[in-house]
Amino acid sequence: MSEARVLVVHGGRFGQSAKIAAAMRRTLGEKGLPSDLAPLTARTAIDPSAHAAVLLVTSVRYGHFDKNAYRLVERNRSWLETHPAQLVTVSLTARKPEKRDPQVHSYTKKFLDKSGWKGRVAVVAGALEYPRYNLLDRSMIQLIMRITDGPTDPSAAIEYTDWDQVAETAQSFAELVSNHPREQ
Ligand SMILES: Cc1cc2nc3c(=O)[nH]c(=O)nc-3n(C[C@H](O)[C@H](O)[C@H](O)COP(=O)(O)O)c2cc1C
Repeated sequence: MSEARVLVVHGGRFGQSAKIAAAMRRTLGEKGLPSDLAPLTARTAIDPSAHAAVLLVTSVRYGHFDKNAYRLVERNRSWLETHPAQLVTVSLTARKPEKRDPQVHSYTKKFLDKSGWKGRVAVVAGALEYPRYNLLDRSMIQLIMRITDGPTDPSAAIEYTDWDQVAETAQSFAELVSNHPREQ
């Protein structure tokens, strides 16, 4: 097999998962790991002849993961059991550091239970961008923020992502991939 490539898959709607995926790709590259970027769709495919590992970055919306994240796990279950894999959940509840523990982050826990994901897991804070939301989404997020002591000013645009955490997660995953025995 030629050099190890990491398939980096990003979900999301407003670009924060894509931005986090891009930052992680840069770190992987610095660690000598080339990667391919793919959006999370119903047809996202791991190429067993090209990919040695997978990194999935996807956001929570109204308490749920993208159904295509479940499909990706379902379609590649046996491959995922034998290859390094890293999930990064992007969410606004994770703006509070104590919620970044995957065992505490309820949406992530539910995804792990339902999907059977066996790889590594990190929970990262996303962005709050009221000016970009439609009326319904803005009202819903304001309601959630009111309940959880967050900002409700409709002009607020705040990036909560901890970029050091993102870089550390990517570095640690790069080590895992580099140390993983490869098929010949
Ligand atoms: C319509 C909508 C619903 C959301 N629902 C949740 C939620 O249920 N829980 C949560 O923690 N974050 C929620 N978020 C926050 C997103 O996960 C966060 O904004 C993230 O940065 C979005 O990433 P993306 O741009 O890749 O989609 C929601 C955001 C939007 C716009």
